[in-house]
Amino acid sequence: MNYKKDFPLIENKDITYLDSGATTQKPIQVIEAIENFYKKYNANPHRGAYSLSMDATEIYENTRTKISKFINARYREEIIFSKNATESLNLIAYSYGLDNLKNNDEIVLSIMEHHSNLVPWQNVAKKTGAKLNYMYINDEFELSDEEIENKITDKTKIVGITHVSNVLGTINNVEKIIKYAHKKGAVVIVDASQSIPHMKIDVQKLDADFLVFSGHKMLAPLGIGVLYGKKEILNDMNPFLMGGDMIEYVHEQTTTYAPLPNKFEAGTQNVEGVIGLGTAIDYIENIGYDKIQEIEAEVVNYAKQELSKLDYIKLYITPNEKNHSSVISFNIEGVHPHDVASILDNYGVCVRSGNHCAQPLLRYIGIDSTCRASFYFYNTKEDVDKLVDALHKAYNMFEKYIKKG
Ligand code: ALA
Repeated sequence: MNYKKDFPLIENKDITYLDSGATTQKPIQVIEAIENFYKKYNANPHRGAYSLSMDATEIYENTRTKISKFINARYREEIIFSKNATESLNLIAYSYGLDNLKNNDEIVLSIMEHHSNLVPWQNVAKKTGAKLNYMYINDEFELSDEEIENKITDKTKIVGITHVSNVLGTINNVEKIIKYAHKKGAVVIVDASQSIPHMKIDVQKLDADFLVFSGHKMLAPLGIGVLYGKKEILNDMNPFLMGGDMIEYVHEQTTTYAPLPNKFEAGTQNVEGVIGLGTAIDYIENIGYDKIQEIEAEVVNYAKQELSKLDYIKLYITPNEKNHSSVISFNIEGVHPHDVASILDNYGVCVRSGNHCAQPLLRYIGIDSTCRASFYFYNTKEDVDKLVDALHKAYNMFEKYIKKG
């Protein structure tokens, strides 16, 4: 089945969209759910005693319950709405990290982290005196068990790990990392931004302490994100943002905070985003992760096979198929990725180029940028053929400028 028909932008524009790692296109069901909210239910939740506001509250809170079931959280109040994964990660860094780290404690991150799970920790390390250590990848672009066990020590208090690398597509063994980190007494933050669009997440099975993701990478609108945290940890944390709706009593000099989840949701929330995310989850569950993975495996394997035939292309992916998701980074050797991406754009092929907000990773690999094709279940083998055709054209255009040897 070709799912493109549900995606008006892809249907109406003559493009080959291969940048779902940056943001996915939105199905008509999500677009209509948002329109429907504004036509029928728009009011500020938690604010009014009138029925329209109560309806808005009900839709908003029902979606929280839906998300908690979707990721199998134990309690619905463990789901906090944020702007995106970046905001969720900043919340953890500032509300948990700053208050719980002291001089010489260790924060361990993988070198694959997106800047959003790295830059806030640099700041926290600077302010607390904690040390920032990295788990590095091996030649197969993976974290070895040995590396995990060498870097996570008795001094480690926080481990930050991306479930899937947004550059390499490597699927990290987060279960192993979490188990090992817990043995050492550390708390683990999983960035699921690049995994949850493609695979089932079960926070209880993982035993993640925190897990974050952005809605817009899984069919939902821009501007809505989720922070999952274990209730007992969230209860002990201070709020990140302060203002309306996160309080219990406010006096002139002091304030008591609302219970979870409101404590972390100051100000009027992105209700349309929440509703869009709820509909996106319905859409994903309707297809099912098994089907999504089946389609993606076929298209991504075909892409790997066809790209491997091009001797002018260098691929940055693990050879272990089972540890690779739906992201393929590549370069035409000797040509800047921005130039390649611009030529591809001339043929309607959308790929991301640059450092993908992961400069330390690219520096570690010894490059400063790549082109990246990222796939979702609405992509087809034809999309791969278009990418390959456009790459041929780009290569032919640049061939005479490429320095050989
Ligand atoms: N984090 C997004 C990406 O990898 C924007 O493209």
